[in-house]
Parts: sequence; C-alpha cells; structure tokens
Amino acid sequence: MAYFRLYLFLFCLKLVESKILCELGFCEKHIREHGCPEPPIHCAVNNATHSGLWLPSPTLCNCCPYCLTFIEEGDHCSAGGPGTGANVGRCGDGLTCVRDDTDGHSYCRRMTSDCHTAQDNFDARLRSGQVGALEHRPHCDGKGKFASFYCIPAHTCFCQSEEGERIFGEVLNLGSSTERNMHCGCSRLSWKIKKSIQTGVRLPVLTPRCTADGNFHPIQCIGNICYCVDTVTGIIEEGDGKEIDLDEEPVTELECYNPRLDFFPEFSRGEPPYQYTTPCLKDVTEKIDMFLQSIEDGFIVDYFNSFPECKPDGTYGTVLENSDGMKICADQRGVQIKDYEAKPDTPEYEAMNCNCAQTSLVMADALEKPVCCKNGNFRRIQCRRGMCRCVDTDGRQVGTDSSDVTRLPCFTANWRDC
Ligand SMILES: *[C@@H]1O[C@H](CO)[C@@H](O)[C@H](O)[C@H]1NC(C)=O
Repeated sequence: MAYFRLYLFLFCLKLVESKILCELGFCEKHIREHGCPEPPIHCAVNNATHSGLWLPSPTLCNCCPYCLTFIEEGDHCSAGGPGTGANVGRCGDGLTCVRDDTDGHSYCRRMTSDCHTAQDNFDARLRSGQVGALEHRPHCDGKGKFASFYCIPAHTCFCQSEEGERIFGEVLNLGSSTERNMHCGCSRLSWKIKKSIQTGVRLPVLTPRCTADGNFHPIQCIGNICYCVDTVTGIIEEGDGKEIDLDEEPVTELECYNPRLDFFPEFSRGEPPYQYTTPCLKDVTEKIDMFLQSIEDGFIVDYFNSFPECKPDGTYGTVLENSDGMKICADQRGVQIKDYEAKPDTPEYEAMNCNCAQTSLVMADALEKPVCCKNGNFRRIQCRRGMCRCVDTDGRQVGTDSSDVTRLPCFTANWRDC
C-alpha cells in the first residue's frame, strides 16, 4: 500500500511537472536552443517507394516532427525484442516481419491472409485471360483484411466484413467520390457485435443505429439520452442542441435531426416521455421486458430464437413475411418493392434474399438496372450492351463475358426465368 501511494505521488508529481514543462511556448524555445533532427523524407513524399507515418515524436514534449518509415517488401526489418536495438521503421501496409532461417535475418514479406489469397487468385485469372469486364482486384487493408466495401462497376458499392462477407450498407456507385464517402464503420461494428457477443447470450444485444450506406446514424441514444454523433466515427459530438433527454424533448429538437432519415416519425412525436425507435426495435425491447418480467415472476421461459432480428438500420430487413405467409421484398419503411414475392414451400421462397430488389431500389434513377428474379434475387445471367456474364448472389461478376449466353458456365435452358 505504501508503495502504491508513493507511486501515485510520483505520478502526480510527474503530471504536474510535465504540465509546467510543456507549457505554451516551450517547444519554440526548445527547438531554438536544441534544434530538431531532420525527419526522413518518407512521410512527406508518400509514393510507391517512400512512405511513412507522422507520429508524435518520442522526445521532450513531442516538440519535433517525427516520421516512422515504412520498410518495403524484401528489405530488412526487426521484429524487436531484447538486444535488437531501437526500431527505426516498420514493414509497410500488408507486410509483416518474417525471420529467414537460411540467413537468420528478418525481412518484410507479404502477409498471408484470405484477402491476399483472393488477390493472388485474381492475378492468376487475369494472366490466363479469365477475368470479366466488370470484375476488379479485391482491395485489402494494411492488415491484409478485406477493405470495408466492395464496388461493382456501374452498379452499387456495398459494405463487407474484414473476412469479405457482404454485410449491411449499400449505395449507388458514382466512382471515386463514392469510395471516399463509404466507410461502413457502423455496419462493421454491428456485424462484429453480432458475431462476437450475440452468439453467447440469451437476449439480443442492441447495436448502434446505422444509415443505409453503413455509416452511423447521426442520432444515437443511450438509455433515454440521445446524442448527435459523427456519422463516420460514431463519436459523440459536443455542443448546443447535440444532446436531449427523451423524458423531456423529442429527437426532432436535436441539431442533427434529419427528417429524411426518420422512417418512423410517428414514434418521435406525441407527448413526453418521447421515444426514438422503430417497429422492429420496439418489438425486441417489448419482448426483452416480457422475458425479464417472466423471470422475475418465477417462470422458466425460453425465448431463445424467438426475438425478431433487426437490421443495423433498426428495420425488419428486406425480406419480410406478409399476412398470407408469402415472403416479399421491402424497403426501409417496410413497403413492398415492386411485386417481388415468393410462395411458401417453393425453392424461390427458401433462397429468397432480395439482394437484386434492394440494389435496383438503390439504382432507382439509373438507366441500366440489373435484372431480378421474381423473388428479388439476382438473375444468374446479367447482360449489358450486348455482352452477358454470370453473377453471384450479390451481383458480382464471376468469370468472363460472352455475347453468347449458351457459352456461359451458369447457362441453363430456363435462364430467363431464373
Ligand atoms: C519516390 O520519391 C523519391 C524521393 O523523391 C524518389 O527518389 C523515388 O524515385 C520516388 N519513387 C517513385 C516510385 O516514384
């Protein structure tokens, strides 16, 4: 305990000390007197061979600029550890430091990952001329994982998980401007929460609310308090009109309230206490309350699997069941998209994912929309400007194009009818 106090004391002393030391104007004086070492040019250049990351300098009061250089593939690196000296750089994005047993030194090598393997497969197919016109090389991030979204040329971009699975969030592909604004932070967070927590607990875990593009909804509530957040990072913003208590005010009072994003305004109107919910979320919270009440009353209940699953935007999702037992494709408000539907006990019903219906809704104003099956799934063969190709369930091209549908590997006699 005495030690602990001493530590605490020293720690406080240090804090106070450093606060005084690093006061305004200190760096100016320090640099004038001691100068700064010239940082390597890598961070300022950032081209294919010279790149790096600006970091706070590990020197007094972080005064000097500091550039951590990225080591290129095949060059020497150090994995760190006792006796290996100070690191002056790290392997560049997608690379990792690997010890070579033949000479005992370490080198930066490409990481082994599913995304890199997918890139290698693509490259191999490209060399043998088997890549389709609307296919592209998978994008991987600096850790070798799949990039946060996938774009289909002249179509849409949709969010994907680090493992490359398609997840919630889709927007019209308008080229590089779309790619700059597509972050999928909310969609990926919800996915991670579902994957890592949901499977082990009895009650559904509520995830942050996302918008249709996979970003954070500008309004997020914790209990009865609602905040405006940054739509890219999800971080709570501070300031006037950025926080309300539902017991007193509706969300419409928030500065970031956007009627275009409020699909169920009936929930946010009326008398206090106000709500901020959707039919699906309301359904889930009511069932949770019922569940907890039954436990309190001493009943043994198993509601496992009987909770509706809400999508990250808080809706029931695109595939809905109507009162006749048919499945339909629906938009965010729950309204049927065109006449996409499937009767129970049919293969169309079982396989229904409404991905094509959803994509054509996103592409509503586009001239060349994909062709959907009656159940809203992508037709296996899509044609555009005289050329046809096979696509997967998400609309991604698989294999080469042909002007003759019978030569496509996915061709079947009834290809027009799905
Ligand atoms: C990157 O920049 C450095 C320094 O300006 C230059 O020497 C090098 O040739 C450049 N590399 C490429 C690939 O452009």
